[in-house]
Amino acid sequence: MTIRKVLPLMNQSRVFEQLLLQAGIMKKTHLKQLWDANPQARADMIIKTDKFSLDYGFQRVTSLIMDALYQLAREMELEQHIAARFNGEKINVTEGRAVGHHALRAPLNEPFMVDGVDQMPLVYGVLEQLERFSNAIISGQWRGVTGKKITKIVGVGIGGSKYGPEDVYLSLSDRAKYGVTAAFVSNVDPEHLTRVFADCDPETTLFVIESKTFTTAETVEANAQSARRLMLEKLAGKASPEEIIKKHFVAVSTAEKLVKDFGIDPANMFGFWDWVGGRFSVWSAIGGAVLGPTLGFDTFKEFLAGGRAADLHYRDSDFEHNVAVTMALIRIWNRVLMDYKSLAVVPYSQPLRDTVFYLTQQIEESLGKGVDKLKRPVNFVPTSIVMGDSGSDAQHSFFQAEHQIPEAGIVPIELTGFRFPRKGADLPIVGRDLTQHQRLLANLFAQRRALAFGETNEKEPHRNFSGNRPTSLLMFDRLSPFTVGLYLATYENVVDAEGAIEGINAYDQYGVEKGKKEATAIEKAIEQANRVGIGNVDLSGFDLSTQRQIREIFPKV
Ligand code: F6P
Repeated sequence: MTIRKVLPLMNQSRVFEQLLLQAGIMKKTHLKQLWDANPQARADMIIKTDKFSLDYGFQRVTSLIMDALYQLAREMELEQHIAARFNGEKINVTEGRAVGHHALRAPLNEPFMVDGVDQMPLVYGVLEQLERFSNAIISGQWRGVTGKKITKIVGVGIGGSKYGPEDVYLSLSDRAKYGVTAAFVSNVDPEHLTRVFADCDPETTLFVIESKTFTTAETVEANAQSARRLMLEKLAGKASPEEIIKKHFVAVSTAEKLVKDFGIDPANMFGFWDWVGGRFSVWSAIGGAVLGPTLGFDTFKEFLAGGRAADLHYRDSDFEHNVAVTMALIRIWNRVLMDYKSLAVVPYSQPLRDTVFYLTQQIEESLGKGVDKLKRPVNFVPTSIVMGDSGSDAQHSFFQAEHQIPEAGIVPIELTGFRFPRKGADLPIVGRDLTQHQRLLANLFAQRRALAFGETNEKEPHRNFSGNRPTSLLMFDRLSPFTVGLYLATYENVVDAEGAIEGINAYDQYGVEKGKKEATAIEKAIEQANRVGIGNVDLSGFDLSTQRQIREIFPKV
């Protein structure tokens, strides 16, 4: 099954007119009316699998609308897209690459063919290397130059090379029981490395330099080089520089030569491939090299298994029973048809709090594009602007606006919850026949109802809640490496489906380049000023405001 060469722009597809009509009607309909008219049908708006469920009865959709949305997915050839992705076709058209992060969590005997070569033996080769490395760190077989056991892994990377590892580490930190903890340095702001380093004992610290390209300015030329210099200074006299790098630095990259130039022995490098996008790389050695030695390699494998379960569900379920496809369509409905441009992601789980940052990159770097795959300008907004926090914290923050902002400002919410607490992690509420996890869930369920149904108070308008605010609810059994994998991979698959239905390439990120170019020009001017004095530098290539800002970072003497 191949993708047609020319697909219509999404909003020129046949079914789109019908969706516009439905949106006109829905804009005048209240969720309360829908629930009053047919409570059972609303309650039946749920997709249940043995591993998780998606409840979307509180979205401003009807079965008629959902039928049209599934039709939209078909017209935009989502089925063909999924098949092409899993077959290793080069669906990342601008970069000419396959998209294969799902293969990182697939079994060895399920080939993933790119350019006629099965990639799975390579994937499993690196997994074995990671397992050996993780076990060597945990067992103390790998020691620092002074003979001490490594107790801290510092991941140095930015974007996808940091969000995934850091967020999964924080989500599963209960598994960090081997006496090895992780810290992360991403920002070029020197405060980041300086503060993390202040908390490290160089004798027991190992840096993992994480960069797919090994050219990213923040990572390689700044933080990794600074970490290298600091370690060489602190451990000077205890071993040769080569030995210090060998015992205290490893790398994860696709660029072996650059890793070698940095001074890291290729034997201490974990590879991955150009068919793994940066923001989808937590499943590769980018995740494994930090998560394996801190949480244990078995935890990393369970995490991969959760991701695999999400892929099987996405690849093999028909659209009407497909969580990722349904979530993608609802996002498109809310954003493009109902005009709600933002999206809040709210896991009712404190350990998942930081995944909000991960998902922000995943969604906006993937879908924030100006043209479609055929390079035609898209005349609709292809990404939501993402915000979020963990519940119940979010209730004491932006949920005020969620409840009372006028219609035009409504932000649909994707809620997530766990039916049961992690074993041994719940607390009874003193004096009540209730636990804290149950109170958390009560809050989650209450918010959905309050946001949907509202409340009218004619005497006190400031206590009016107009309701009609859409939410979806993803429910899992309990927090574990498996469910975190299932959750994150499901979100990845939502982005995959959303991009495909919108006809855009969700796998490039040229927007990031523009800022990099501007920064390079300004950096050069600052560097020149450091050499010859700011008064002697020609800044006329910059606007007057930028010229002033640059001058003012040089103190007057
Ligand atoms: O932000 C753009 C980006 O290319 C991301 O996709 C990637 O995760 C990040 O930069 C870091 O890139 P690298 O891993 O090559 O250092």
